[in-house]
Amino acid sequence: TPVSPCDFVVFGGTGDLAVRKLLPALYLRDRDGQLPPETRIVAVSRAGLDEAGYRDKIRGELPRFVRAAELDPEHNGATVERFIERLTHVSLDIDDESSWPALVEQLPVSDRVRVFYLAIGPALFGRVSQRLAEHGLVTPTSRLVLEKPLGHDLASAREVNDAVGAVFEEQQIFRIDHYLGKESVQNLLVTRFANTFLEPLWNANTIDHVQITASESLGVGSRGGYYDGSGALRDMVQNHLLQLLCLVAMEPPTYVDRETVRDEKLKVLQALRPLEDGDVDRSVVAGQYAPGLVDGLAAASYRADAERPDSTTETFVAIKAEVQNWRWAGVPFYLRTGKRMDRRCSEIVIQFKAVPHAMFPGSEGAQEPNRLVIQLQPDEGMKLHMTAKEPGPGGIRLRQVSLDLSYAKTFQRRSPEAYERLLMDVVRGNPTLFMRRDEVEAAWAWVEPILERWSRPDHSPRPYPAGTSGPSAATTLIERDGRSWHESTTTA
Ligand code: BG6
Repeated sequence: TPVSPCDFVVFGGTGDLAVRKLLPALYLRDRDGQLPPETRIVAVSRAGLDEAGYRDKIRGELPRFVRAAELDPEHNGATVERFIERLTHVSLDIDDESSWPALVEQLPVSDRVRVFYLAIGPALFGRVSQRLAEHGLVTPTSRLVLEKPLGHDLASAREVNDAVGAVFEEQQIFRIDHYLGKESVQNLLVTRFANTFLEPLWNANTIDHVQITASESLGVGSRGGYYDGSGALRDMVQNHLLQLLCLVAMEPPTYVDRETVRDEKLKVLQALRPLEDGDVDRSVVAGQYAPGLVDGLAAASYRADAERPDSTTETFVAIKAEVQNWRWAGVPFYLRTGKRMDRRCSEIVIQFKAVPHAMFPGSEGAQEPNRLVIQLQPDEGMKLHMTAKEPGPGGIRLRQVSLDLSYAKTFQRRSPEAYERLLMDVVRGNPTLFMRRDEVEAAWAWVEPILERWSRPDHSPRPYPAGTSGPSAATTLIERDGRSWHESTTTA
């Protein structure tokens, strides 16, 4: 069903995010009939483009980011043109008063939903909100969408939240964590709470530990400027990985609505064991990629990619975390993320405890504990590793096998991109899959001691060759506890 008529105003409208993700997502929603005819998209940037110039740019870029099979269903370009005609561009310098009237002109007074999407740096969030208010552009049906990173530590996140909060009500503010828009991540909630068999086992009585991995084979590409001031902890852990941890660890909400799920996630963040100074050295590993081989091709170091020869920014993080509550006492959560690793793979591994007693003769050591692997990407699915009897007349021989669920095979339909879902939720005014202010701040509060420890001069990340699974210290981190990282290609 179509959403209400809406004006999307995208600050950073010529930037990487808008061109690669936002406009393709809006295009796909339009193609599927979800955008009413009067919906408009106003791109705002400092590029001196007029409407025709911007339309040409997007006409050229769209085929790069929407797959050919999905781009032009009628093979006559009509759907693409209908979308292109929604676009306009306003050249605006935030601090130049004389450039604002051009935007004001594009947004006549109305009660249409107005989405201000800030695909720009967090340092500008407050200023832009202020200017929007000064020019009378903030209506009761306006919403503000903020891209991460939301600040670079707890204090700056609070400042940003205060500044935007001075103009917009909390329910008008949508803080994006695009992981929450992924089909596979939403499915995690369904897997846990729409099935009976898992939930009774989902606790410290049966689960030995949890692993959450988000590895990428790509390097930092052209984003070195942003990334070098950020690093993997701020770029991936503070948001995406901690959100995944929350979804794994949270209590079942009584029902799903805008606050209940977020309330439960917040409780998990608040239950994370705070890291003291000594804990950071013991429980957290930072790495940075050195030259190596990725898919058989030579790959440069991070320092060369980012053009920062002395950089100590981490491109890899592994952490042992603990959730201090009744359900999870004593169950470590090992988190890991990195760029330029051996493969692109995001997955959650639930490692169950070993059987208490090996009763089959000769089965000692032949029987591995059960393991549930929830694969978020690239191939969404779930595998339950278990032990079975190998067929044969002579005695009982045990074999490791797996129950294997592939979503692509089961559903045979396209999974929408995260931004498609999230942008429509913004228009509908549904913030369930967005981060609330208190969640963002609780996540910053937890990573703060790591930032603080790493800011001292005696810290530097450990090098790892590009195309590998990270520094050896990350292996030590988990092996020290008598456990090992799950490597999906090496297991059944
Ligand atoms: C973004 C990070 O939030 O997530 C990027 O800024 C990272 O550095 C990306 O590459 C990963 O997202 P996905 O959807 O490809 O797993």
